[in-house]
Amino acid sequence: PSFTVIVPAAGVGKRMLADRPKQYLKIGHKTVLEHTLEKLISHPRITRIIVALDPQDPYFDELPISQADWITRVDGGKERADSVLAGLTALDSHSWVAVHDAARPCVSLSDLDKLFRLFENNQGGGILAMPVKDTMKRAQSEDSKRVSNTVDRDGLWHALTPQFFPLAQLRQALSEALEQNVTITDEASAMEWAGWPVNLVEGSERNIKITRPDDLTLATFYISQEEL
Ligand code: C5P
Repeated sequence: PSFTVIVPAAGVGKRMLADRPKQYLKIGHKTVLEHTLEKLISHPRITRIIVALDPQDPYFDELPISQADWITRVDGGKERADSVLAGLTALDSHSWVAVHDAARPCVSLSDLDKLFRLFENNQGGGILAMPVKDTMKRAQSEDSKRVSNTVDRDGLWHALTPQFFPLAQLRQALSEALEQNVTITDEASAMEWAGWPVNLVEGSERNIKITRPDDLTLATFYISQEEL
């Protein structure tokens, strides 16, 4: 079967300190968002992409890719989870769906293969993730610089995207979690909250999320290597 990917791209990307949202910064001649969308659609099992955009977004329509017949545009929402739910609501014909950050243009086709192959017959779905390498500290409070304790890193993973789930379960989990004001920072957190088993598979550490200025430099390097 083929899959649809939802790409939340309605964020403003404040931490980039740039004049436009990070998905519209350039890597070579193209924007981050174009790199992400082109990578996804080049996977043989991905046939459609739903992009959630800020309703006032002035940039997307300028991109040649906005005319592609495999792209559907929906209005994003206040939080990432609202944007993803808007995308899920626009979709009814697929049984499985993947969600991938617009800000992760360096995802590899082999990681996508791995995710689909491992989890498409699984009950709860799964996500790409990376084991934590550094020693982890918890501060005494959100604003405090005083260490409260060291968190055991054994068994700790960074959650990446794509995240791949059965559509009906994800839609229900996300909408109920949002209704009940549960903090949802990725799709897996909604699925976990709803009680579904969520699985991890190790992905490449090149699949960075562009968040701060240096990330753009690194992504530019990774993508130039892919194009060699
Ligand atoms: O800000 P952060 O890096 O966590 O955003 C992850 C992804 O979610 C980005 O691709 C961003 O554009 C998207 N997002 C969204 N709607 C929001 C906030 C973020 O689609 N309200």
